Amino acid sequence: MPAEIVGLGVAVPPYVLTNADLEELVDTNDQWITERTGIKERRVAGRDDSTALLGKRAAEQALKVAGIGIDEVDLVMVATATPDYTLPSAACILQLELGMTRGAAMDVIAGCSGFVYALATASQFVDSGAAETALVVGSETLSRICDYTDRGTCILFGDGAGAVVLRKGERGVRAFSLGADGARSRLLMTPAGGSRFPANSRTVAERRHYLVMEGREVFKGAVTAMAASSLEAIERSGLKPDDIDLVVPHQANQRIIEATARRLKTPMANVVMNVARYGNTSAASIPIAMAEAWEQGQIRPGQRLLLTAFGAGLAWGSAVVDWTLPNPAEPAPEEPTQPAMPIVRGLLDGTLWDGADMLPPLRAAVPEAAL
Ligand SMILES: CC(C)(COP(=O)(O)OP(=O)(O)OC[C@H]1O[C@@H](n2cnc3c(N)ncnc32)[C@H](O)[C@@H]1OP(=O)(O)O)[C@@H](O)C(=O)NCCC(=O)NCCS
Repeated sequence: MPAEIVGLGVAVPPYVLTNADLEELVDTNDQWITERTGIKERRVAGRDDSTALLGKRAAEQALKVAGIGIDEVDLVMVATATPDYTLPSAACILQLELGMTRGAAMDVIAGCSGFVYALATASQFVDSGAAETALVVGSETLSRICDYTDRGTCILFGDGAGAVVLRKGERGVRAFSLGADGARSRLLMTPAGGSRFPANSRTVAERRHYLVMEGREVFKGAVTAMAASSLEAIERSGLKPDDIDLVVPHQANQRIIEATARRLKTPMANVVMNVARYGNTSAASIPIAMAEAWEQGQIRPGQRLLLTAFGAGLAWGSAVVDWTLPNPAEPAPEEPTQPAMPIVRGLLDGTLWDGADMLPPLRAAVPEAAL
């Protein structure tokens, strides 16, 4: 019996960074960004936000939709390239924030394909009976590794989170196809801050703890791999490409999505798009797009969805999902927004965290008997 999506949720920070804002930071302009990427604005997490905290808000919504209590969750997976800490995992911080006292928690690092990888993994746990209920969160604060002095990358990325709840059902995740090619890892990476080049004054001075990318090569790889893995996942699902009602692609760039759709012979009317409003939110982009499309009635029960993603690794993945969850009576009201520039300036000069506490609070004392 497959893993069924029984709840989903989305959370984005209120701070909006527009193309006009970026014109103040780097040598770029709205027309170039719009034509080359389709992106008009992206969100930036505030000082009091983080990957786990955005994930918490998305997860709480997803659990509410599912009508499931946090103590029923057996497995929490967070797909992210920007965990709150290198150690422990963002999934453990999310557990702490959700007040969850049982179950397993782990992160999945697969760049922008992280959500598809995590969905494929968690659905195996549910399908096999190893977990009855799984929470899969894609959450990112890419603003924290984005170099706002590099026009080749800073125009692309944004922050946000999406979450789904999985349970065993009649219909759900039908099939998936995952792939990776580590030989192309240099094309998109954060060079320092890991064990090979630990952070020190030199790595920081040389700005090597920021994400770097060879955009054109990544672009070519994305279109080829997303189209091929989509076709493989569709074949494994026992369906034909024509049977797919809606494609939810990773929201990297409008041109990548259009080129992939052309290869799949899918009209753009059947492709979910929100890259204009959020930019590339990496592992969060598919669950954010899915949750919004479902709230707005673009995703409906009875549809067959194709999810497809590509990113750092290089790693890619696609999944075919039978949608069963009834739409909400009405979409959630839009939250008020605020300008992100004060936050970005604080990120650039490091003043954003003046006076902030770097450690999460210890919520409850460990009982003596448990030691
Ligand atoms: C980043 C990306 C938008 C750049 O578009 P592109 O058409 O490949 O552009 P190029 O990098 O070849 O650069 C073309 C020119 O624009 C310039 N340019 C780059 N960024 C610019 C910007 N933000 N504003 C204005 N000009 C810019 C370059 O310097 C170059 O100028 P030159 O010809 O004088 O050298 C595109 O490669 C892309 O989207 N790649 C995939 C990125 C991605 O999605 N990564 C995540 C994967 S999940």
